[in-house]
Amino acid sequence: MPVKSLLDEFKQITRAVGNDAHRFTEQVTILFQDLLLAHPQKAFQALRVVKPVLVYRDAAIVTRFHDVVEVLTHDREFTVDMYGPPMQKITGDFILGLNQGPAYERGSSLLRLAFRQSDAPRVADLAAETAGRLVAEVLPSGRVDVVRDICDRVPAALVAQYLGVAGPDEPTLIEWSRVLFAEMFVNLTHDGVIAEQAAVATAGIQPHVDALVAGRRAALAGGEPARDTVLDRLLRQQALGSQALTDAEIRSNLIGLLVGMIPTISKASALAVDALLDRPMEWAAACSAARAGDHPLFARYVDEAMRLSPQTAGLIRRTVTDYRIARGTHHETLVPAGTYVFAATQSAMLDGSVVTDPTEFRIDRPASDYLHYGAGLHTCFGRFLNRLVIPAIVKAVLSIEGVRRQPGAAGELAIDGNFPTSMVLTFPRL
Ligand code: HEM
Repeated sequence: MPVKSLLDEFKQITRAVGNDAHRFTEQVTILFQDLLLAHPQKAFQALRVVKPVLVYRDAAIVTRFHDVVEVLTHDREFTVDMYGPPMQKITGDFILGLNQGPAYERGSSLLRLAFRQSDAPRVADLAAETAGRLVAEVLPSGRVDVVRDICDRVPAALVAQYLGVAGPDEPTLIEWSRVLFAEMFVNLTHDGVIAEQAAVATAGIQPHVDALVAGRRAALAGGEPARDTVLDRLLRQQALGSQALTDAEIRSNLIGLLVGMIPTISKASALAVDALLDRPMEWAAACSAARAGDHPLFARYVDEAMRLSPQTAGLIRRTVTDYRIARGTHHETLVPAGTYVFAATQSAMLDGSVVTDPTEFRIDRPASDYLHYGAGLHTCFGRFLNRLVIPAIVKAVLSIEGVRRQPGAAGELAIDGNFPTSMVLTFPRL
């Protein structure tokens, strides 16, 4: 859609909703979601040129690289206040819903001691083993649904084995995580159906996690050896010191982490496989990197696939003070206090003034070109794991001899709302 039509649509919304700021935000969000689904790259490209920081009433869209980073790194002005209400209902306090301050510092520090950067290689091995086992299971059939059979199941297994939070069964755990993610991060328009599904999932997951915490506490008290899981480590922190997370906080954090893990890793991996399938040369080169055991090179292919097919179009913040974005440039823009700001990371990663040949698939980019995991205070907590785990999943799929899309619609990546639901690949049976 040309930028003129986009701006015309904004004007129409203005006329239709009058002075109702809440309805305006809703309408713009709906418009923006539709545009993103239909032609995201075109919409962003137009905005980057014509109106890099578009502010209207209490909504703003920021599309250039430096401005997106400015928003995400100015956490005192651009807060995460809007995550608070849905999170309170689902998890209670969780770091992504907390602004900079003592509560954030305490939560993130205690969590980092239990969810450690040094675990990443072990967790990636677990991901590779699980993905390898799941691939081996489908080999006799000559067919795999990448989303259902692999991408959803690997992070669910990691949640069970690394966090220590198995579901009542795996499909329920996956479903809970999707529904809760949708309510916390996608349901900006307060869709009642999503909210209701989230209420049901919350009513299921909270007592389930409480029971797991109580069960592990009793087992440890009874002399059972500690498991090497985030849950057992958090319980051990309690035994060691008064600063530790309470049981209610452990529940909040475990739910927050699993919601952050399953839908995101699944979607990012499925999108990366899809993007590589569309590029036979890069697919072949990635396969040879995999065969050669060159993990860093393989990870570059995955990073680039993720940049061109990102897991999210952007991140939302709310200003608590008037702020001038891009001060001193020709597009310096005042964003008033109380504005909902959409920092379009997808657009930033395609900004040709920073990213060389932005629409080309290149594996020689500096790490700083990638904003998959956000920037600033709330940069993804799982990033150290993701950088190893997502390539491990993608590699397991690529390594299936003779794998290709099933002809027809089933072979395309199907997305329902925010999440991939299916993509069928076929290969010669073993
Ligand atoms: C092990 C898996 C993951 C875990 C445990 C996890 C957890 C988290 C947590 C706790 C935060 C908030 C950090 C903070 O407030 O300090 C966060 C932020 C974020 N995560 Fe992840 N995440 C995971 C996977 C992913 C994946 C696969 C992606 C994308 C491909 C992703 C993208 C992001 C982004 C963009 C943010 C910033 C959100 C914002 O600033 O609004 N995460 N993640």
